[in-house]
Amino acid sequence: MTPRNGPVAIASANGVGAVELAHQRLREGADPVVAAVEGVGLVEADPDDMSVGLGGLPNEECVVELDASVMHGPTHKAGAVAALRDTVHAAAVALKVLQNTDHVMIVGEGAKRFARQHGFPAQDLLTDRAREAWLRWKMQLNDGDDWLDENQRDWNTDGATPRTTGTIHCSAVTADGDLGACTTTSGLSYKLPGRVGDSPIIGAGMFCDNEAGAAGATGRGEAVIQSCGSHSIVGLMAAGMHPTDACLEVAKTIARRSKLQRRLIDDNGRPRFDVKLYALRKDGKFGSASIWSGASFAVADADGARTEPAAFVYERA
Ligand code: GLY
Repeated sequence: MTPRNGPVAIASANGVGAVELAHQRLREGADPVVAAVEGVGLVEADPDDMSVGLGGLPNEECVVELDASVMHGPTHKAGAVAALRDTVHAAAVALKVLQNTDHVMIVGEGAKRFARQHGFPAQDLLTDRAREAWLRWKMQLNDGDDWLDENQRDWNTDGATPRTTGTIHCSAVTADGDLGACTTTSGLSYKLPGRVGDSPIIGAGMFCDNEAGAAGATGRGEAVIQSCGSHSIVGLMAAGMHPTDACLEVAKTIARRSKLQRRLIDDNGRPRFDVKLYALRKDGKFGSASIWSGASFAVADADGARTEPAAFVYERA
């Protein structure tokens, strides 16, 4: 099974530039996981994208900690880093774990040292914009502490900063049907230091099976981990399901399981959070679905790079 119209790359909606670059690299003959990692590298280096790499939103102690994973279809090898500090290109470090070690995941201080050993420069990832967002969050956390809340101050500020789980995922398939995938993120904003989301967990935030397809996730990582989101999607594609239907099925499963934790659902029994899922099949067919309507995803194929709307479980009012 090979793509009918040449290589394809898909990504989360913040990855239009990423899929464009990945698709170009695939046309030039690059390995699919290398193409995906180079694609997301653009977004990791963008200080205006607050979901990943430089400019990513920090943890509760105002330190940016990155998670990333990669997977190579032809060898079924994976690499990952978690809670990586002071390093812009977490996905490329994860690729070094895949290429240069017999391990799958390296975390924290060890991941940082591993990055330095491979020539990745030390860099402070915290931009002023991300620091100010953290400060607004911190000041409004608790109206009984010594930080003044919005309603306790006598001047106007920019208001609250919602917590986010922005991330970038990219999957790629070559014209020969070889797959690669990668997910990279600064994770849940203002998380507990050391918290690891779904992005670096193989089978949760990313998975790839060269016989079937690749998949990835963005959004509430805890929900994706608990349902092995990406592995489930690839399994459904292996059983013959279209990528969109496979994503929708897993989004429904995650929504259904959220009902088991009362604090996660609204008065209508629907999740208070969102999860977005992305899938690319070995034959080049692709799709995406989220729990809530309004999401889109990026794709690049013979028709160029663009965004397309994702399927969804619930329509937002
Ligand atoms: N999906 C990103 C995270 O939860 O960290």
